[in-house]
Amino acid sequence: MHTETSLYTDLQRLGVPRGGVVIVHSGYRSLGPVEGGPAAVARALLRAVGDGGTLLVPTFTTNLIDPYTWPEPPSAEERARIMEEMPAFDPEQSAPHKMGAITLALWRLPGARRSVHPVSSWAAVGPRAEELTVDHPREDPEGIDGPVGRACRADAWVVLIGVDHDANTSIHLAESLLEMPHLEALPDRYLVVTPEGGREWRPVAKTTKCSDGFVKLEAYLARAGVIRGGTVGDAPAQLLRARDIVRVVAEVVTRDPPALLCDDPECVHCPTSRALLRSWTPPADWRARLP
Ligand SMILES: CC(C)(COP(=O)(O)OP(=O)(O)OC[C@H]1O[C@@H](n2cnc3c(N)ncnc32)[C@H](O)[C@@H]1OP(=O)(O)O)[C@@H](O)C(=O)NCCC(=O)NCCS
Ligand SMILES: [Zn+2]
Repeated sequence: MHTETSLYTDLQRLGVPRGGVVIVHSGYRSLGPVEGGPAAVARALLRAVGDGGTLLVPTFTTNLIDPYTWPEPPSAEERARIMEEMPAFDPEQSAPHKMGAITLALWRLPGARRSVHPVSSWAAVGPRAEELTVDHPREDPEGIDGPVGRACRADAWVVLIGVDHDANTSIHLAESLLEMPHLEALPDRYLVVTPEGGREWRPVAKTTKCSDGFVKLEAYLARAGVIRGGTVGDAPAQLLRARDIVRVVAEVVTRDPPALLCDDPECVHCPTSRALLRSWTPPADWRARLP
């Protein structure tokens, strides 16, 4: 049975730094049995970064968008029914969707801040929580001015606990910095309820697309020597600098633009992305854009 203290030791051994900004992507199940459940893991993470450190976690609500961009879109009839019953995003009430039990525990901690974004909100705990989450830009939510962009500029670390790079949002930051055209395709659409009770669906420019192919990045990161590996509980874990991730992604996709797309012909996004990337050339100053 793992405990808060044993997990804290694991995180220290992995190299989680004290006092900085740490972006956490996790799945609770892979840790094995933990005394105290996900809340104990959350406390271990807080102890690892210390009082001066800030944790940042994705609290996305991709369940509250027009299902036409869901990974498995429903039929037209079903889509209409789902949209009719869907509530609008509420930063206080809308639970993060498929972000994991540890993230849920962190989001609900007293003092946690959550950015207001109808699709791509983030929650943060610690002294830099407000700075990272305030005024989340509606457009290009994972860009340089969003929580991940700000964290990266603050030299954040990314920790993956029991999850792969398909959960690594910092990869999307690189796509945004390079102005990759597929970010503009098939925008997610979110619901706005007007004071009169009307329901309007509005697009968000440059929301992120399919990340299934991001698992291919690991080999490049490993070759670049920027992954610190370890375990947290029973879970395989990785620790990386967000800046290293962004740099390696940029090096990969400027050479081979579709390198990080998935290979599923039925994917809602990747076939369109592949077509758009055929006529894309990286901005001439792409190296200067890296944080
Ligand atoms: C989708 C994902 C969350 C699934 O991981 P998971 O480990 O299966 O899911 P959770 O973290 O929710 O953990 C679920 C388990 O915790 C258990 N659990 C949840 N709350 C609990 C509690 N309070 N006490 C005890 N157990 C609890 C559940 O019972 C479940 O266990 P079971 O399957 O044995 O019943 C994970 O794969 C993932 O992708 N995480 C990263 C998300 C992310 O950062 N995305 C951002 C970019 S896309
Ligand atoms: Zn895909």
